[in-house]
Amino acid sequence: MTTNEIRTKFLEYMKDKGHAIVPSASLVPENDPTTLFTGSGMQPMLRYFLGEQHPLGKRVADSQKCFRSQDIEEVGDNRHTTFFEMLGNWSFGDYFKEEQIKWMWDFLIDELNLNPKNFYTTCFKGNNALGIPRDTFSADLWQKLFAEKGLDVTIGENPEVDGMKEGQHIFYYDESKNWWSRSGKPGGMPEGEPGGPDTEMFYDFDPDLSKQIHAKSKWSSEVCHVNCDCGRFMEIGNNVFMQYKKTANGFAELPQMNVDHGSGLERYAAALRNDPDMLAIDVFDEPRKTIEELSGKNYGANEDETYAFRVILDHLRAATFLIGDGILPGNKDQMYYVRRLIRRAVRFGNKLGINESFTKRVADSYIETYKKEYKVLEEKKDLILSEMEKEESKFRLTLEKGIKEFEKIATKDISGIDAFNLLQSYGFPIELTEELAAERGIKVDRSSFDEAKKKHAEESRTASAGKFKGGLGGDGEIETKYHTATHLLHEALRQVLGEHVLQKGSNITSERLRFDFSFDRKMTDDEKKKVEDIINDVIKQDLPVHREEVTYEEARERGAIGVFDEKYGEKVSIYTVGEPGKRGTAKLFSMEFCGGPHVNSTGELAVGGIHPPDSSQGDKPYRHFVIQKEEAVSAGVRRIKAVLE
Ligand code: SER
Repeated sequence: MTTNEIRTKFLEYMKDKGHAIVPSASLVPENDPTTLFTGSGMQPMLRYFLGEQHPLGKRVADSQKCFRSQDIEEVGDNRHTTFFEMLGNWSFGDYFKEEQIKWMWDFLIDELNLNPKNFYTTCFKGNNALGIPRDTFSADLWQKLFAEKGLDVTIGENPEVDGMKEGQHIFYYDESKNWWSRSGKPGGMPEGEPGGPDTEMFYDFDPDLSKQIHAKSKWSSEVCHVNCDCGRFMEIGNNVFMQYKKTANGFAELPQMNVDHGSGLERYAAALRNDPDMLAIDVFDEPRKTIEELSGKNYGANEDETYAFRVILDHLRAATFLIGDGILPGNKDQMYYVRRLIRRAVRFGNKLGINESFTKRVADSYIETYKKEYKVLEEKKDLILSEMEKEESKFRLTLEKGIKEFEKIATKDISGIDAFNLLQSYGFPIELTEELAAERGIKVDRSSFDEAKKKHAEESRTASAGKFKGGLGGDGEIETKYHTATHLLHEALRQVLGEHVLQKGSNITSERLRFDFSFDRKMTDDEKKKVEDIINDVIKQDLPVHREEVTYEEARERGAIGVFDEKYGEKVSIYTVGEPGKRGTAKLFSMEFCGGPHVNSTGELAVGGIHPPDSSQGDKPYRHFVIQKEEAVSAGVRRIKAVLE
């Protein structure tokens, strides 16, 4: 069964059980500024656990694109990837443990034909202090399901200490293992966060062979158990019983009992091949062949090269999907990860002896592999390929010189200034310098690097603030209006074209505003009209404009948009249009990181013109926001010129 077939089979199975099948949400979370990327299937579903009704009902399933940035440097072994797909199904206060566990068993054992002898599960052991009981229901039900297949398995306690006894396939663990919430374990959950105990599912590839995995690992002196870090057992899925909400002094029951199931699609595929190498499954076949052709090397031939293959395979798949969701390589937030992924892939390509432009060829193989299931990749193909190529060639220009420079300074630990110069002159992300240093067993002075970077940012900010003041010099009143109009435009574009629209540049004169943003096609006349209408409506409503100074975290948490590159903990200035509050509240129109200046209320934008003589308003002042031009600046970046006339 191919990976694509497994995905289809799962969704059909869940459809059959009454679930509405929804498409994957974007890798960039919508209306959730607390996290940069969608890292689990449940993230886009969060509000439905808390009681809000899903428009498609109480049963929903999907295959969700996920990106876990924290895993970048783990990639290279046989199981870590930054991008993966999570198969998920949810009960929003509908079915509970019994249905979920039976369906999982039925799907894995009867539909996918996994051998139950290789299958293991874990359940929550209970914690009196938290007031959460032991999940005997789940453990007993799993045991019964094993028995129906003629396997009399037993339930193990304290596997971390006692190890696994013959015949034990179900184990109790405490909340350090069998508990799930977006923010981790009970102690780390903020108030209001939903979470609950879970029952996890594991696969043991080849019981005889895999014992050697433990014996060869650095955990060989400890007992091996299902959750052992040696990786012998692969977690293939997790059923969370989202039943609780963190409160000031413990946990309270949510208004409804939810199920949140997530399984790794690629892990299912690896289990079905009975090969623990996740990067050997079929979705990587074409891209792998492309790398083999380009490098003349073979995957699996030797350890170092296989490691390089895996980094390239993972990173370029992730970058392909991220660009597909509108995140282009750059220096900030999500964009920085795309840059890092591509640059890291290029460096590992060099290790395989690939010295020509190759990332777009690998990306192209991925688009071919996934285009039926992810139409967005086909639609954005030109953008993906050109962004890959651009980023690669930019980096290649300096990579070789940068490596030479690195060699020169790498005779001892690397100073922060030297690391900063590698970034400034050769485009080496700090993590790259750190990796190169680690390969040579030397260190990088990270804190003095951070200082050098901050100092540089402050200097350039002072410079650009000076420039901007200059731009608004004299009686900059009309420029101020255009500046506020720019905020309205930014928000209106996101409402009409989607939240993935990001500001790429802005320039204001007393004649017009100019606004560059990431978007990969021409806007239709209808879209332009909608944007104008939204803005003119806001002008007519005469909404107040406020400036606030808040911490970076608060601004993020409230959903401020815009370009901002500061450190956590710093005070930042934001401008709101409408009633100050949180993004998504009805009376707030826009909220952006910005230093100002702005008008006091949007009605001022209308002032300064004269109504046409035939209008009933006579000669009262009025202006309208009008888009004069919408054009491409470069691949994936559009430019609007607009006036108040
Ligand atoms: N939220 C759970 C997880 O990510 C199951 O979907 O593991």
